[in-house]
Amino acid sequence: MSATKHKVFDQARSILDKIESFAAQKQEEVEQFRIKYIGSKGLIKELFAEIKHIPPEQKKDFGQLVNRVKKAAEEKYEALKSNLSEENTGSQAEGIDLTLPADPIPLGSRHPIAIIRSQIIDIFGRIGFIISEGPEVVDDWHNFSALNMPENHPARDMQDTYFVRKDPDFVLRTHTSSVQVEVMQRQQPPIRTISPGRVYRNETISARAHCQFHQVEGLYVDESVSFADLKQTLYYFVQEMFGTETQIQFRPSYFPFTEPSAEMDISCLICKGDGCPVCKNTGWVEILGCGMVDPAVLENCKIDPEKYMGFAFGMGIERIAMLKYRINDIRLFFENDIQFLDQFRHAL
Ligand code: PHE
Repeated sequence: MSATKHKVFDQARSILDKIESFAAQKQEEVEQFRIKYIGSKGLIKELFAEIKHIPPEQKKDFGQLVNRVKKAAEEKYEALKSNLSEENTGSQAEGIDLTLPADPIPLGSRHPIAIIRSQIIDIFGRIGFIISEGPEVVDDWHNFSALNMPENHPARDMQDTYFVRKDPDFVLRTHTSSVQVEVMQRQQPPIRTISPGRVYRNETISARAHCQFHQVEGLYVDESVSFADLKQTLYYFVQEMFGTETQIQFRPSYFPFTEPSAEMDISCLICKGDGCPVCKNTGWVEILGCGMVDPAVLENCKIDPEKYMGFAFGMGIERIAMLKYRINDIRLFFENDIQFLDQFRHAL
């Protein structure tokens, strides 16, 4: 009797050992393992069938042993299956650990011109200026004539112009003032709008000048608009853009489409007025041109100059960005150098 006991017990133990040390290289071997041990005609089934021949006092021990064998076989089978399916994806074979975190995907940054442009739009938006945009190729009338610069007017020389070769009546706009004209043609006052956009001038490219750059034009036309409104609007803009410490000053100037005209300076952000190379030791830097819209311009656009008046201003976005970010070469904006652009990753 005890010999029988040992025989089936030993059999079960040796099956357990084999199961535990089993290794598979191929899918077929896993299937063979299943048939041999777990399958309906497998060894484990035979072991269970053995139970009824075991004497009652040993039944409990044998039953527990057979259950261990069964559990080991099932666990092994699951492990073999999942190992092989991982191998099939090639991950282990090539030594790739799929649990490692992925490489970060580099995100781009916004261009400084785009950042400043949206800040300007935002600041004027808060006091009711809406955006209007116009084409970059415009007829002579929109760029010049409507703005009091008829043909052969010397003021045209202030802005070196690119003409469209096939039709010299069309130009690449030299300023965003062409959009003012379009807006006033389309719409009667009250008008309160800003027009950001790219402009072109046939300038020699240097650290301070480029043949393409960006401007924001502002236009306000209503029944009683004064120079004081213009000053206050621009003062608000400067405080928001450059901080409340910043001072402004107006200098008389000339633009054919405004009368009176002025240029506006802000106190130098770098030396705070003490004098430095950026402000050429004057303590002030020029940021925009402005003035009261010339009544003749209103008339050109079919707006009654007896009833309405307005102010306009125009500023270069590159200039604002150069002052704000202390960039000393305008060409950097157009080179798309990743190292330069990357510095604006965290700019608001
Ligand atoms: N258009 C002018 C320029 O480009 C700027 C300006 C706009 C001046 C509006 C006065 C009023 O130089």
